[in-house]
Amino acid sequence: MGDFDGLVALVTGGGSGIGRSTAELLSRLGARVAVLDLVANGLPEDMLFVRADVTDDQSVRHAVEAVVEHFGGLDVVVNNAGIGAQGDVAASTDDEWLKVYDVNVVGMARVTRACLPHLRKSGAAAIVNTGSIAGTAGLPQRAVYSASKGAVHALTRALAADHIREGIRVNAVAPGTADTPWVRRLLDSAPDPEAERAALEARQPHGRLVTADEVAGAIAYLAGPLSGSTAGTVLAVDGGMDAL
Ligand code: NAI
Repeated sequence: MGDFDGLVALVTGGGSGIGRSTAELLSRLGARVAVLDLVANGLPEDMLFVRADVTDDQSVRHAVEAVVEHFGGLDVVVNNAGIGAQGDVAASTDDEWLKVYDVNVVGMARVTRACLPHLRKSGAAAIVNTGSIAGTAGLPQRAVYSASKGAVHALTRALAADHIREGIRVNAVAPGTADTPWVRRLLDSAPDPEAERAALEARQPHGRLVTADEVAGAIAYLAGPLSGSTAGTVLAVDGGMDAL
């Protein structure tokens, strides 16, 4: 899996779900971990929490500087903070488009921009972005969200092209529906949560939801030395959904 001893990792959206599992796994693999999120949400004491909103450039810059000051550098960035949106284009509003893009796409650019000067000094620099199956396959009633995640996949390739010669590898994961607090909130709001869960499980060829730990494993692979020649890829973690 790779050895993160001595490396510093920053995980955005690490307060919950996929981000939390990733922060915990990187910590177990030896990294010193900082979590950037709106809420700390009972973060383990050995991790540094930096409160910031990825839609606020100044708060992002302050948070990244606080991480570098605390740990003395930065090697791995997991751009994972994201929000969802349901519905088709006809039902969408401009406000919804701008809000989702502000978090999912521009937020990723803001964090990356603040981190790049530090990553250039690392010698083991990697960025892993959280995309989605929604950015690769056409899913019904997810128009705004899908467009934002398609942009994340394109941004990943553009960042890889711009920065691989500086020694910074950029890749993404594209999870299928994962069993996280986000998806549990969606299920709870459905008229029949059990039936909705069964439908989401059936949508994935391996017949179940993806676990946050499985996505974290893919992120750790792309963040670590075993993927040292991999840049600009979008790794599906979706039970075979994109293969069909
Ligand atoms: P989650 O809702 O459990 O966790 C997301 C975290 O991001 C939360 O801690 C939240 O506070 C933080 N966050 C949201 N907006 C923020 C902002 N403006 N600034 C800073 N932090 C912010 O969600 P989950 O499921 O763990 O999703 C994480 C990522 O995985 C997202 O990018 C999502 O699009 C992606 N994803 C999730 C899938 C799923 O089925 N759960 C499937 C494919 C992708």
